[in-house]
Amino acid sequence: PVKVYEDEHIASKKVAKRIADLIRRKQENHENAVLGLATGATPVEVYEELIRMHKEEGLSFKNVITFNLDEYYPMLPDAKQSYVKFMDENLFNHIDIKRDNIHIPDGTLAKEEITDYCLAYENKIGAVGGLDLQLLGIGRTGHIGFNEPGSAPNSGTRLVTLDDLTRRDASRDFGGKENVPTKAITMGIGTIFKAREIILMAWSKKKAPIIKKAVEGEMSGNVPATYLQLSDNVEFILDEDAASELT
Ligand code: F6R
Repeated sequence: PVKVYEDEHIASKKVAKRIADLIRRKQENHENAVLGLATGATPVEVYEELIRMHKEEGLSFKNVITFNLDEYYPMLPDAKQSYVKFMDENLFNHIDIKRDNIHIPDGTLAKEEITDYCLAYENKIGAVGGLDLQLLGIGRTGHIGFNEPGSAPNSGTRLVTLDDLTRRDASRDFGGKENVPTKAITMGIGTIFKAREIILMAWSKKKAPIIKKAVEGEMSGNVPATYLQLSDNVEFILDEDAASELT
């Protein structure tokens, strides 16, 4: 299903509220809430609202376990473009989550360590009971996580090559496309699919063409997000601009 909100501020608050409700429901049952998280511009206001709820409404993250979708490879955690830094600055440093409960793919691995690491990442998600909720943005290539065109629907966590358009879109953060890593470690489409709930968010006119393809287009590996059409647990949460090309 697709839900369209007037603007990204309202939409972000709705998403944050759903996450908070999930966390509280799990708390009442003395269970952990396992969240799959995304970086980038899209979820920033969701995280801001969660921080506000933590500070003003006493929302605790002590029972929350997180797995981020992806990280550039190679990438040092201290680098200003790292997703470790992004998550710290935009969420984790401002809430009471336990550091041991945070998982972000490691951009510092040696090449030969990557395969085992990726399997272990999958296993860790399974060991805590699987993802209750996965948050997604969407890239202009149709990627979810960094599953670029050509990704298999049953793919797992792995090392991937970034699409040229994705690197161009990231060039501002890196001061030029030539500085954007060519690779990343990402959860697979199959990993994302196992989440019990999936929320894909998109804001602005810039995302309208890819949202049209993702929601209404023919399912195809050329637009990985079209695979979400197969899932009953997906919700597309859009602002009016991102939804503007839908029929
Ligand atoms: C980020 C991620 C990517 C982004 C996508 C959109 O962890 O997995 O798929 O969600 O590239 O990025 P923004 O939100 O910056 O437009």
